[in-house]
Amino acid sequence: MSSASTDVLARDRIQVPEHPLWPALDDARKQALKERIKALLDAQDAVLVAHYYVDGDLQALAEETGGYVADSLEMARFGAESDAKTLVVCGVRFMGETAKILNPEKRVLMPSLQATCSLDEGCPADAFSAFCDAHPERTVVVYANTSAQVKARSDWVVTSSIALPIVEHLHARGEKVLWAPDKHLGRYVQRMTGADMLLWDGACVVHEEFKGFALDRLRRLHPDAAVLVHPESPDEIVDQADVVGSTTQLIRAVTDMPNREFIIATDEGIFWKMHQLAPGKKLIAAPTAGEGATCESCAHCPWMAMNALQNLEQVLLRGDQEILIDEDVRRRAVAPIQRMLDFAREHGIGARRNSD
Ligand code: 13P
Ligand code: SF4
Repeated sequence: MSSASTDVLARDRIQVPEHPLWPALDDARKQALKERIKALLDAQDAVLVAHYYVDGDLQALAEETGGYVADSLEMARFGAESDAKTLVVCGVRFMGETAKILNPEKRVLMPSLQATCSLDEGCPADAFSAFCDAHPERTVVVYANTSAQVKARSDWVVTSSIALPIVEHLHARGEKVLWAPDKHLGRYVQRMTGADMLLWDGACVVHEEFKGFALDRLRRLHPDAAVLVHPESPDEIVDQADVVGSTTQLIRAVTDMPNREFIIATDEGIFWKMHQLAPGKKLIAAPTAGEGATCESCAHCPWMAMNALQNLEQVLLRGDQEILIDEDVRRRAVAPIQRMLDFAREHGIGARRNSD
C-alpha cells in the first residue's frame, strides 16, 4: 500500500464550522412544528430520507411520516425506490447529491446546502482528476462522501457498508486500486483485503478525534463492553474494536450481540436509533479528548448538526436549498453509483432494514 503525496492536503484548508445552536423548543412548540412539517410534506408529495447522525427529532419525524432513516448506502437505495416527487435529504450534501444523481426527475431538497463533509471538502475535483491522470493503470474507487464531480471521475463508488466486498472483488480480478478520499477507511480496507491500494490523504474530522490511549483506559473500566468502531477511525481505534462496520452494521451489533454495554466510536447521533432498538443496553461514547487534548467536533459532526426541525420547515416553505447537478456530470456519476447498487443487489448486501 502507498499513500498519495498530493499537495492539496486538505486539513489546513478545511474550515470546520462551529456546531449551530438551535433555539430550544418546548414540547408544545415542537409538536406544532412537526405537525406543520407533516402537512407541508403531504402537500408537496415529499418524503424525508435521514441519516443516523442527524438529530433524533428528525429521525423520529422521518419514521412517523413514511420516510426512511438509514446509512448512506440505504439512503441511496431508498431514494431510487420511492414514488415521492420530492426527496428531502436530512444529512450532508453528498447524500443529497447521490439522491439527485440517481433520481434526476425528482426535486431534491436539503435543510441546508452548507452541510458538507471534511472528506468531500478535502478532495477537490480538479486535483483529484490530476491524481487519477497520473495513475491510469489503477481502478478508481471513491467513497460516497465525495462531490458529484469526483464520482464522475471514478470507476466505482462505495460506502462503508460495501467497501470491503467490492475491493475484494477487484483484488481477485487482479486490479490495482486508487482510493479516495478517506485514508483511514482505505488503510482498513487494504489491511483486510491485501489489495494494492494507492490512498488519497483525506480524513473525517469527527472520527479522527477518537483517542487510542483514552479508549484503552475506558475499556479497562468496562471489561464486558463490546467496542464498536466506524472504519473512518484511525488504526489505534480500529485495532481495539470488537466490531468494525458502517453505521447500520454497528446498530445491528448492539441489537444482536449479547453484551449489555457497548463503547461506541462514531458520531453520537447514532445513539438515538441504538436506544430505540435496544432500550435496555448501556451505550458509552468513546473518548475524543484525552489528557491535555481538546476536541473540535467532540463526536458529533458539525455538518450533520446543520439539520434541524426549524430549517426543515423553512426549506419546505421556500423551496430553496435544492440540489442541482450539471447533466453531463450527473450522467458520468450515475454509472459508478449504479455499479455499486447492482453489486449490492447481486451479493445481497445491505437489504435488511434496521427496523425490520
Ligand atoms: P455510513 O455509510 O456508515 O452511514 O457512514 C456515512 C458517514 O458519513 C460516516 O461518517
Ligand atoms: Fe463527513 Fe465525518 Fe461528518 Fe461523516 S461524520 S459526514 S465522514 S465529516
